[in-house]
Amino acid sequence: MGQLRGLSVPSCALAQKRQILSAKKPVTNGRKDGNTRTIHFTTFSSVHLHIIVLSLFPRLLFPMSRYAAAHVNPEGPGDSRPTALQIVKDEGMEGKLKDKVIIITGTSSGLGIETARALSATGATLYLTARNVTKAKAALADILEPERTEYIEMDLESFDSVRAAARAILAKTDKVNILINNAGIMAVPDLQFTKDGYELQFGTNHLSHFLFFQLLKPSLLAAPTAEFHSRVVNVSSAAHRLNGINASSNYNFQRGEYDPWVSYAQSKTANIYMANEIERRYGSRGLHATSLHPGGIATGLSKFIPEAELAAMLNNKALLKTLKSPEQGAATTVWAAISKEWENKGGKYLANCAEANRGTDDGNVSSADYVSHTYNPESESKLWEDSLKIVGLCDDQ
Ligand SMILES: NC(=O)c1ccc[n+]([C@@H]2O[C@H](COP(=O)([O-])OP(=O)(O)OC[C@H]3O[C@@H](n4cnc5c(N)ncnc54)[C@H](OP(=O)(O)O)[C@@H]3O)[C@@H](O)[C@H]2O)c1
Repeated sequence: MGQLRGLSVPSCALAQKRQILSAKKPVTNGRKDGNTRTIHFTTFSSVHLHIIVLSLFPRLLFPMSRYAAAHVNPEGPGDSRPTALQIVKDEGMEGKLKDKVIIITGTSSGLGIETARALSATGATLYLTARNVTKAKAALADILEPERTEYIEMDLESFDSVRAAARAILAKTDKVNILINNAGIMAVPDLQFTKDGYELQFGTNHLSHFLFFQLLKPSLLAAPTAEFHSRVVNVSSAAHRLNGINASSNYNFQRGEYDPWVSYAQSKTANIYMANEIERRYGSRGLHATSLHPGGIATGLSKFIPEAELAAMLNNKALLKTLKSPEQGAATTVWAAISKEWENKGGKYLANCAEANRGTDDGNVSSADYVSHTYNPESESKLWEDSLKIVGLCDDQ
């Protein structure tokens, strides 16, 4: 078992006292308010009203997504909810990203495979990371075009491995357009630690992805053009609704009371906070970030769930209907990565190919809605600063 580490301050951080950039100002649409248009109420008939209501209706009912109707009454994997490849087609992005670079973590199983498969259809060059490259190649080699696919070994349990992976990528490209932090583990039954001494889920799901982003940041900031801003997509989970971030003295459950789900929730809240903070800091420089819940999908992620619990889930017909196929499970990730909706903005938590709605703070992990702690600029900033110290980096903005 690795040793628990406190927050050690890197020497270069001592001189750094900087202010967090304030959130980007909302963009106006350039229309002037005031007297530029006059509505003559005397001629404003119910016909006009009907036309307006009908034209606005889909946006009022489904404010962000053309896919909302398909998610109302799910019928289980393979139903009418979109697949990741459908998103690529609907966005008109087939073969349109030939000069772009996309990195996806965790491509040896589950959603990572389907995310890679769909994004390959854009024509982009893919850098696919896996701790077991042989396994990733076995899953993807027949699907992807070898000349546009690079496999990179990266074990998220080790900062050294993350640094080596970033070095290998940066040796081949100095521009990265899209980074998808997808890899993850869930509900590790007992308190375990990464090679660097951090709680396994916090270290794997958050800290290593945070370090990976930091090392790739210059290439993400070098890539934006007026037509195509850079994007980071963090695959989080509705399980974040269970718990926010522990006190910084307890990220690693030093105070005891380790719980597999509380730990997973902390790591998945961290995925959201990282994306929100990226948007706050770098959005004005053309680097945007979103986070998302992909849905419930039967993948390797459930390997730590006891068999009896899994069997009970499989007997729950209502639950089974909500499940998505892996192809559908990768849809919100791909929507976040390439859709026009998110080409110029971020800092939002998504679900079901839409921006998530505000839900109730009930800890219900089957809800796709967000809760009060999903957005918390103060905690987002604190986690960012602490994470920088943990991975031994300065903040150069
Ligand atoms: N499936 C769901 O219902 C669901 C729901 C909500 C959120 N999510 C999120 O979706 C993401 C993808 O999960 P999934 O369902 O596709 O699970 P999965 O099938 O288990 O895939 C997870 C991927 O992460 C990789 N990974 C795990 N530990 C790693 C490490 N130390 N270093 C490098 N790679 C590592 C796995 O590699 P190996 O193949 O070597 O294990 C695998 O490629 C996760 O972030 C998860 O939290 C999934």
